[in-house]
Amino acid sequence: MTPKSFYRRIEGELADLEKASLFRDIPDVDYGSARELVFRGRNLLNLASNDYLGLANDERLKIAAVGAVEQYGCGSAASRLVTGNFRLYDELECELAEFKEQEASMLFTSGYAANLAIMDSFAGRRTIVFSDKLNHASILDGIRLSGARHVRYRHNDIAHLKKRMESAKDVDSRILVTDTIFSMDGDLARLEEIADLCDFYDTMLVVDEAHAEGVFGSGRGISHERNIADRVDLHMGAFSKGFGSLGGAVSGRKDLISYLRNKGRSFVFSTALSPAVIGANLAALRLIASDSSRGERLLVMSRELKTYLESLGFNCGDSASQIIPVILGDNEKVLAAREKIIGEGVYTAAIRPPTVPDGTARLRISLRADLTDDDLQKIKTAFAKLKTDLT
Ligand SMILES: Cc1ncc(COP(=O)(O)O)c(C=O)c1O
Repeated sequence: MTPKSFYRRIEGELADLEKASLFRDIPDVDYGSARELVFRGRNLLNLASNDYLGLANDERLKIAAVGAVEQYGCGSAASRLVTGNFRLYDELECELAEFKEQEASMLFTSGYAANLAIMDSFAGRRTIVFSDKLNHASILDGIRLSGARHVRYRHNDIAHLKKRMESAKDVDSRILVTDTIFSMDGDLARLEEIADLCDFYDTMLVVDEAHAEGVFGSGRGISHERNIADRVDLHMGAFSKGFGSLGGAVSGRKDLISYLRNKGRSFVFSTALSPAVIGANLAALRLIASDSSRGERLLVMSRELKTYLESLGFNCGDSASQIIPVILGDNEKVLAAREKIIGEGVYTAAIRPPTVPDGTARLRISLRADLTDDDLQKIKTAFAKLKTDLT
């Protein structure tokens, strides 16, 4: 392909995205993790970040981050297997393992890198990986990288999963991986039934608790909330959401974590997180471990808002968490709705295909524990006005 035809193809694809209202651009946002962000120069209530507990701007995290920089500097300067380790790293891993009630924990530069490493390490060409259709992209990318046979089952459809597992029962290596909270729908995996199937079909169970940590199960996640943490083989989580910082983590048995340390390419061949991040993560973990009330308050608020939105006639799917979709269907309609909500002083993300299936474009509300009662009222008023406009 000559360079010219290459450019023409890219131009054509960009134009197609524009036409379908699917073109993505980085929004003109500042202070995007705060309770109020700045968009196009205006202060708006922030219902788009994953800082569910409002910890990203917590003074205690900031002080811990600055302290770590003063002690260890700005960069880790190597993979941890070379010289990129420092004492805070080991402390965080030990405290996280204790918190998650697992033998060991291991940190990654992001949740994305953690999922890549899990799949790349434990799955191979002779493995079948069963994966919910709505699992996060990082899980799909990890499965692709591993070369494993990828068997997707319909979202939260246990009968379909059982059928899929039954037809693959003679394979010697099986992994099942699921988000515990699905990030675009806010609904929860049917973990008990999944764990039963994994026991029956001798399958390794991996859960992605990225959106549940800090909120459910006294901050530990859904598998703890449901009392089945000991039936899960690997617990993946992230410091980038409820913990208000950055980084991914995997917890489980010591031998599995050792294996991951040896095989996980996104760990072995990547520079370790900076001391500032580890300092903040440690402070966030200690806060959450000592007080789970933020997460509990967030869930009460979420139930109240979902009930209100449904009473207006909005479709919020099966959300049972702090992530509440307002499913409008059409891409253009969602972009117009987002502008309307912005006009009322509230910022939400407009989520369109391919992030969600065609015809299910939505506003994705992600609530945060630091919203006040007045804030909640403002959100309700904004959506009530939107409903009037749409009908
Ligand atoms: C379910 C899930 N897993 C993993 C990730 C990746 O985590 P990170 O943003 O820390 O890379 C995300 C991020 O959005 C996610 O939603």
